[in-house]
Amino acid sequence: MISRKPIRKAVFPVAGLGTRFLPATKAIPKEMLPIIDRPLIQYAVDEAREAGIEQMIFVTGRGKVSIVEHFDMAYELEKTMQERDKSMQVLESTRLTPGNLVTVRQQVPLGLGHAIWCARAIVGDEPFAILLPDELMIANRDGGPGCMKQMVEAYGEVGGNLISVLERPREELSSYGVIAPGARVSEGLTEVTGLVEKPRIEDAPSNLIISGRYILQPEVMRTLEGQAAGAGGEIQLTDAMAQMIGSQPFHAVTFAGRRFDCGSKVGFVEATLALALEREDMKDEVRAMALRLLGG
Ligand code: UTP
Repeated sequence: MISRKPIRKAVFPVAGLGTRFLPATKAIPKEMLPIIDRPLIQYAVDEAREAGIEQMIFVTGRGKVSIVEHFDMAYELEKTMQERDKSMQVLESTRLTPGNLVTVRQQVPLGLGHAIWCARAIVGDEPFAILLPDELMIANRDGGPGCMKQMVEAYGEVGGNLISVLERPREELSSYGVIAPGARVSEGLTEVTGLVEKPRIEDAPSNLIISGRYILQPEVMRTLEGQAAGAGGEIQLTDAMAQMIGSQPFHAVTFAGRRFDCGSKVGFVEATLALALEREDMKDEVRAMALRLLGG
């Protein structure tokens, strides 16, 4: 039977080392690096909330305490701001309902699949979402739904397991997980018949890459349990999902919006610039500055 239990829980794997951003990430988690004035983790949590998800599960590690503190009450700060008559609205999105933030530790960063498996006791026997905070998913400018909201809507249609995908030029495919598509269900929703991690260009079964949003059934935890390390010596989530195809429904949602790879330096700069150029409070100045820098 296809599971349609509601998606109430989201796992945020934040235990990675962030080596591509060293030395910035020596003492600060990558997920706390800000795009303008919000840390990456905040964008991901906001996206989950928009999708109706209640419980946020952070898989953390050493040096990641500030991620949890970001969603805690900052008593001295709030008291001082109140005394100085400053608006508290900027802190609004950092407040979660008491009890809705749970952390588990991944003692050794053995890969994304292992990080997810570390959350098994909290996830329990329910389907759950996964959001990778270093992939920033921004809804279309027309006010369309965020990526996870789109996925939850698709889940209402087909149930089972879902991953978000994006089209990429063929020459880039060998850096990503790529799906083998099956039947098209509706606009932007396709059945998945296989997954290949980092294929050779000529072997890639499509030009659709897996991006960092998932809705998975709890059985994935059992699959991860018995899984050996894959590419790069890490326990790969893609390998576990690939094993579930055939025994459970699997679909891909093509996100109608933009994705910025903020795990890479260029993607991070692109996200900063793109979002700054859309913000009412700064877009004119940023545009003028960008043109000046480009000599235009
Ligand atoms: P990445 O591979 O992009 O993150 O993992 P990383 O390892 O921190 O970055 P680099 O490559 O060294 O710069 C994707 C997501 O999975 C988490 C990361 O924190 C990131 O959000 N992750 C990765 C874990 O939680 N545990 C791991 O063992 C690996």
